[in-house]
Amino acid sequence: MDWPGRFGALCYGGDYNPEQWPQEVWKEDVALMRRAGVNLVSVGVFSWARLEPSPGVHDFGWLDDILDLLHDGGIGVDLATPTASPPPWFGLAHPDALTVTPDGVRLTHGSRDTYCVHAPAYRAACVRVARSLAERYRDHPALAMWHVHNEYGTACHCEHAASAFRTWLRARHGTLDALNDAWTTSFWSQHYSAWEQITPPRATQYLPNPSQVLDFRRFVSDAMLDHFREQKAVLRELTPGVPVTTNFVLGDWAPVNHRHWAAEVDLVAIDHYPSADPPAETAFAADLARGWAANPERGPAADPGPAPEHSPAADPSPATEHAPERGPAPGKPWLLMEQAVVTYTGPRMLAKRPGEITRLSLSHIARGSRGAMFFQWRASRGGAELWHGGMVPHAGPDSRIFREICDLGALLPTLKDACAAPVEAGAAVLWDAEANWALQSPGLPSTELDYTETVRQAHRVLYRHGVTADLVHPSADLSAYPLVLVPALYLLADADADNLRRYVSGGGTLVVSYLSGVADEHARVRLGGHPGALRDLLGIRVEEFHPLPPDVVLTLSPPDVLDGDQGEWDDQEDRGHRGDRPETGTFWSEHVHLEGAEALAVYTGPHTSGTPLSGQPAITRHPYGSGTALYVSTRLSDTAYAHLLGLKPAPVELVRRGEWLFAINHSDEEHEVDGLRLPPGGFAVRASGDPKP
Ligand code: GAL
Repeated sequence: MDWPGRFGALCYGGDYNPEQWPQEVWKEDVALMRRAGVNLVSVGVFSWARLEPSPGVHDFGWLDDILDLLHDGGIGVDLATPTASPPPWFGLAHPDALTVTPDGVRLTHGSRDTYCVHAPAYRAACVRVARSLAERYRDHPALAMWHVHNEYGTACHCEHAASAFRTWLRARHGTLDALNDAWTTSFWSQHYSAWEQITPPRATQYLPNPSQVLDFRRFVSDAMLDHFREQKAVLRELTPGVPVTTNFVLGDWAPVNHRHWAAEVDLVAIDHYPSADPPAETAFAADLARGWAANPERGPAADPGPAPEHSPAADPSPATEHAPERGPAPGKPWLLMEQAVVTYTGPRMLAKRPGEITRLSLSHIARGSRGAMFFQWRASRGGAELWHGGMVPHAGPDSRIFREICDLGALLPTLKDACAAPVEAGAAVLWDAEANWALQSPGLPSTELDYTETVRQAHRVLYRHGVTADLVHPSADLSAYPLVLVPALYLLADADADNLRRYVSGGGTLVVSYLSGVADEHARVRLGGHPGALRDLLGIRVEEFHPLPPDVVLTLSPPDVLDGDQGEWDDQEDRGHRGDRPETGTFWSEHVHLEGAEALAVYTGPHTSGTPLSGQPAITRHPYGSGTALYVSTRLSDTAYAHLLGLKPAPVELVRRGEWLFAINHSDEEHEVDGLRLPPGGFAVRASGDPKP
């Protein structure tokens, strides 16, 4: 695909929703965009009601004008298909295309994203509207990229969904016997004797079946991806040289397996809205995006064969790409498609601090983004998101925000050389969407388990100690990494466990945390002791879990404390030994037996007395082949985690790309790193030969 194509430069711009504004504002918009150095805007993301005000009646005039104006201003267009929000008339005409919640409530129009990707009428209408846009703008010189839909995220539980789910289950499991076995339906009288008996997980009396819930989440991702593929096929057919993407929503709730989606887009685009700790969250999001883009993996189609209820009835011509190949896909570029000029913290929307927009954008770019884009160009005066900020804020261009937007626009073109080499990573952290979904199941031994936070912690510890990490799937080639962290990888397939064994026996250092390798791909427990899939690699056997209440802090002592030693840590430099302070474990603990590993720390202290934990291993180390596998059976503090890894704090964010170094000081203090003096909030992008200020 022709990417970056016309964009040799970094992309800069945002969502542009001109239909909110009278025409006289449009000219000012383009003039301001030029002043700010904007070169790409996403247009038409939620424009369906304006483009098709009533069934079959189109109004493209305003969009023609906007595209012409933008093109005259030298600004490219990332043209959206507006399918994330069908117009009110559509829902009235096709109530079966409105989302049904697990409780059986059919939602009504009035917000956005109210659709059912399984509803034939909606599927057909989406293909039609995508085709009409592609036919009209296929030769428009402003057209730079296609932006399909927006943040796929609405799961529906209606009868269309049920029927499509059954089709997907047949393809996955083959026979009802296999499904009954995978879902352990012999428990609680759930045995299915006909496919028609199976439904999406809907409101039910008590705990639902966790394997059913997990399969439904897999199915929802695949079904939405089919919806994307249908539009992509039309756009590809009519505009073969124009890249097609969709913007990935991030967050715990995200119902898509981004790694599978990354295989289908021409570039990976993410929307990122950090909240509590913007610098660390930004590094995490960017490293995730880079991982998806570098190692995409094709997933299954939700509908693997022609199924009448899914074919776009009114327009049979678009080639629905059924039964795509499985397996690895080639690497892709990636782009920060949306960020905000404000920080959403939950209760409050905070204005970003001076320089923060630049620093966070730079962090994304240092970590591989092909630019920095925003939601949205001009802050709305009304509508649901009137307080979500804009590159042009309510105060207008004479504002701190717009001045910083202009400064950032001037900075980006100077970074081209620094962005040429790949990002250098010193470690990998494993991440798997399916492990996340499985750990969100009901009925786990603690309701407080938070997969994302556990992975974030591992990543944050590396980030705060100057180690750039790739976030990769457990099946990725790990051989180039000196260190791989495996946080709470609850669900682990046999082949991926083999991959970890290969990595360690080849000389790698693997640090596995609690609750990893416990379940198979159907979310069934691996028997004989935890972590079932990794026992031999770690040289341990976990007999029991002991989740801890919030106020319980366990002491971790060196093992020789049991021989009467005072329990002081040796300050040893090799991995697996910590500094000279007592360490603690919170949140989770396990009864670990050594089966070849040695204990680096044992559980002691008042909370363990009288429990099976007392004096038992908390942290272990096991030589395996030419490498080492460590196990951490509790939650460490960030500091203790860093001690375990032998890391020293880095006061600023550092990312290396070939001879280039990106150094970003997110703090309020001056710091000097590698001979570079960075003022509070300052940054530097330097080649190794550059003179140091
Ligand atoms: C994004 C979404 C945008 C807008 C933005 C608000 O998730 O794609 O349309 O809602 O959030 O900050």
